[in-house]
Amino acid sequence: MSSTREKLIALLSRHSNTFVSGQWLSEQLIVSRTAVWKQIKQLEEDGYRFESIPNKGYRLIHQPDKVSENTIYWGLPTEWLGKQIEHYQMIDSTQTLALKRAQEGCEQGLVIISDKQTAGKGRRMREWDSNNDDGIWLSFVLRPNLIPAQAPQLTLLTATVLVKVIEAITELKPKIKWPNDLLIDQKKVAGILTQAQGEHDHIHYAVIGIGLNVNQINFQLTEMQTYQATSLKIETNQTFSKTELIQLFLSHFESLYQIYLTEGFAPIKQKWLESAYRLGEQLCFKVNGVEKTGIFVDLSDDGCLIVEDDQQKREKLYSADINWF
Ligand code: BTN
Repeated sequence: MSSTREKLIALLSRHSNTFVSGQWLSEQLIVSRTAVWKQIKQLEEDGYRFESIPNKGYRLIHQPDKVSENTIYWGLPTEWLGKQIEHYQMIDSTQTLALKRAQEGCEQGLVIISDKQTAGKGRRMREWDSNNDDGIWLSFVLRPNLIPAQAPQLTLLTATVLVKVIEAITELKPKIKWPNDLLIDQKKVAGILTQAQGEHDHIHYAVIGIGLNVNQINFQLTEMQTYQATSLKIETNQTFSKTELIQLFLSHFESLYQIYLTEGFAPIKQKWLESAYRLGEQLCFKVNGVEKTGIFVDLSDDGCLIVEDDQQKREKLYSADINWF
């Protein structure tokens, strides 16, 4: 069970658009008014700021930049995404836990976030370097009314949301490398992992994991990596508030997801193509061991990359081995 301090922060975070009296807080927390007052003073020493008006009470106006359930809730404008959050300082993988919660029947919108991951995972069973608290490592649960073939659209949608978030807070113009990487100057700044569970005609749940490199100042190139990584800090020389970025991501995701549910994939595809890496260029790729070339011309509705050869013959690439660089 959380401490009085944590419960107090939670109450103040959730009522930050109004004043709450010391009396009301003491009743909610089942402690004396003096105990509430002492906790408030302690919070002020720790970087929290309050507006206080005699006979009206307190209103939280600033929280220190530390990622927690409460700092994310505070001012989060979403209706359902992130209304339930589990935050950990360290966990093996937010994806593994979110998949477990989804299987147990949690509600759509649950967000699992961890400062560090000891066994972060990427696509194709790759490791995801996240045993540091400089990035955003989070997974969330959706329960969309989709068929499994549409699940890749969720990755593409998430990529366009990440582009929007980065463009909203920097001058950078990230590119989406199909299907799930975000690049800045050919270096990877974010990756997306979508895992869905369902039957042939219906998804029970989808878990989307995002890894966004935010405040790292360097990366080691491991043997597994075929290209370099970067962070928002490396690209801009600025340090970013992870809490604000998480809030921005959740609110942009919720809005674009709503558009997707009501208008379908077309508007998402259009946004995706605007940021697509190497669209209109010739790609070299291998399908079933055969090397081919073709111009990357479009994206299909099931999330495949469409290439056209010099005879104008089009081919859909599901998961071809593409030589991107
Ligand atoms: C990739 O580029 O292959 C996808 C990387 C996805 C990493 C994120 S970090 C949060 C979530 N938890 C994980 O273990 N993986 C995803």
